[in-house]
Amino acid sequence: MRKHIQGVRGMNDLFPDTTRVWQHVESVLRETGWLYGYQEIRTPLLEKTQLFSQSIGGDTDIVEKEMYTFVDQGKESLSLRPEATASTVRACIQHGLLHNRQQRFWYLGPMFRRERPQKGRYRQFHQFGIEAFGWPGPDIDAEIIRVGERILRALGVGGITLEINSLGSESSRARYRRALTGYLVAHQADLDEDSRNRLERNPLRILDSKNPQTRRILAGAPVLRDYLEQAEKLHFAQLRTMLEDCGVHYLVNDRLVRGLDYYTGTVFEWTALELGAQAAVCAGGRYDGLVESRGGRSTPGIGFAMGLERLIELVQLHGSAENPVQADIYVIDTTGDHAPSVRRAEALRDAGMRVISHCGGGKLANQLKRADQSGAILALITGERELELGVVQAKPMRQNTGQIELPADQAVAWCRDYLENFATTGNET
Ligand code: HAM
Repeated sequence: MRKHIQGVRGMNDLFPDTTRVWQHVESVLRETGWLYGYQEIRTPLLEKTQLFSQSIGGDTDIVEKEMYTFVDQGKESLSLRPEATASTVRACIQHGLLHNRQQRFWYLGPMFRRERPQKGRYRQFHQFGIEAFGWPGPDIDAEIIRVGERILRALGVGGITLEINSLGSESSRARYRRALTGYLVAHQADLDEDSRNRLERNPLRILDSKNPQTRRILAGAPVLRDYLEQAEKLHFAQLRTMLEDCGVHYLVNDRLVRGLDYYTGTVFEWTALELGAQAAVCAGGRYDGLVESRGGRSTPGIGFAMGLERLIELVQLHGSAENPVQADIYVIDTTGDHAPSVRRAEALRDAGMRVISHCGGGKLANQLKRADQSGAILALITGERELELGVVQAKPMRQNTGQIELPADQAVAWCRDYLENFATTGNET
């Protein structure tokens, strides 16, 4: 026997009991995007490697260690997308979507990062993201955060904390970086190794450190907020007021810096303790310099991305995961001639009912067992006697009412009435 080839580590197969939850969550995501006037954008899974290295930053973990990169037959370096903000910006510039226009987009799809797999961290994972281009003020920041909030509420996901911060412009951040580096260099010997390595290249990321000793040192470090320009402080203060006005709870976290280089100004992240080490379920922020740095006309941008695997884990823990039944009707046939049952199943589908046909025949008891497992509300049964008399048996599977014999030509109308009635009263019986 040939050796079985396993799937790639950190890339998941999803089966119907889970894809049902995914479909429910995806429909809430799409609906919420549309509620706020965001439209779908789809970009390729592969982009030129440079797009990501130049947008996300060459010194970031994503670009340094985590991209799936290869040289194709045309000797071009391509990478599987690790996120979709860079691709969205690329597509907008390439197709002139930002010329004198503001845009609101959403996207949903797989992303790829070669991280060390663990619960909640995968090498192929899925994001739902939104991006808004052309609005410089805090009102769009508040809108973007409200979209995230509404999604989490619609899915009934609780126990989540929203943290916000402002990173300021590049020049404020450069001043802060100098002050922070000066402070940390004085404590260099006591920093953990990772942080020492970051000191020159990306000192702001040290603020993220989980090392207890480094965190003690950070407690006395200068704070970014003190280095913001007046206008940046005002933007942040206005955002806070807008969030408070619509009852969005948040914490200000001075240490929230995010792991991608394109951010400017507002950044935010929702975390859920229940998710354990990989607690971030949604994160984003402003990237006012990205469009220009990619060759477009200077255009402010802001967005977020939600990790679907983490979101779905929370929905399964205590959210409202609808578990729709697979079928309305299960068609059972114990005769030698299945043609009338097949025609009836098609007629039921024409009338909008979801129908599973028991293909392959077999004993009535076995077919009924399958009907029960399918979750169907009704079973329609045809045996030799029914075939001869031109009738069918309708067996309610979810109510304690007896089986009913129907003239075959009335079955479709009867089933439709039964299902309509079941939808309004079924749960009460
Ligand atoms: P990010 O923080 O890198 O931001 O990812 C956003 C979310 O994707 C995370 O909070 C997490 O839920 C999920 N995620 C990231 N990596 C993994 C992984 N390996 N396995 C499972 N889930 C993961 C971005 O990607 C930005 N593009 C967000 C953004 C959009 N900022 C502005 N617009």
